Amino acid sequence: MGKVYVLDHPLIQHKLTYIRKESTGTKDFRELVDEVAALMAFEITRDLPLEEVEIDTPVISGAKAKALSGKKIGLVPILRAGLGMVDGMLQLIPAAKVGHVGLYRDPETLKPVEYYVKLPSDIEERELIVLDPMLATGGSANAAIDSLKNRDARQIRLMCIVAAPEGVEAVQEAHPDVDIYLAALDEKLNEKGYIVPGLGDAGDRLFGTK
Ligand code: PRP
Ligand code: URA
Repeated sequence: MGKVYVLDHPLIQHKLTYIRKESTGTKDFRELVDEVAALMAFEITRDLPLEEVEIDTPVISGAKAKALSGKKIGLVPILRAGLGMVDGMLQLIPAAKVGHVGLYRDPETLKPVEYYVKLPSDIEERELIVLDPMLATGGSANAAIDSLKNRDARQIRLMCIVAAPEGVEAVQEAHPDVDIYLAALDEKLNEKGYIVPGLGDAGDRLFGTK
């Protein structure tokens, strides 16, 4: 069963409060989502392997130091709303490649509809981090992960800002190998499939659509 990490760092939680507020406008919403993604990047990369290297400092030659041991990362935002997390992640992982999976949730059935996939050619060698601010029923995340696995992805993590318990369970059941990183695990879904208390429609709030 995949693990669930709720990243309860005070800065993440403080910014999340403003993301949730109805009165937060598009500009601030976008900046805050970026900032939270960057803070979450710090946590999700905590277990990246390091190797010892030798460097010359201004004081001595051959000092032992640490460097990332070449693990390749791929970021995969789920369009549209996942795009809002990419820049924040790239601030901390600038060498990551970025693939895109386009999905929208049919408002009647709540089932995901895939409309676009473009991925780095070497995804099977990369640790992939799927990005989406919202994990509601889990349909979109599961479809994106299916899409990646069908293209030979092997190592996948899922990073969302807000999740409903229903979505977490759905991903754990369909993809027990995928660990989930969240800023908050909310109470429930409402009858329209929105997360409660949630933050509303993430895509609309990021891009100013309705
Ligand atoms: C939202 C959100 C997730 C999905 C979550 O996308 O960004 O992708 O809903 O819901 P689920 O867990 O029930 O699948 P939406 O379908 O609104 O598309 P958008 O990002 O293009 O607005
Ligand atoms: N998608 C969103 O953008 N918000 C929700 O609360 C649920 C799905």
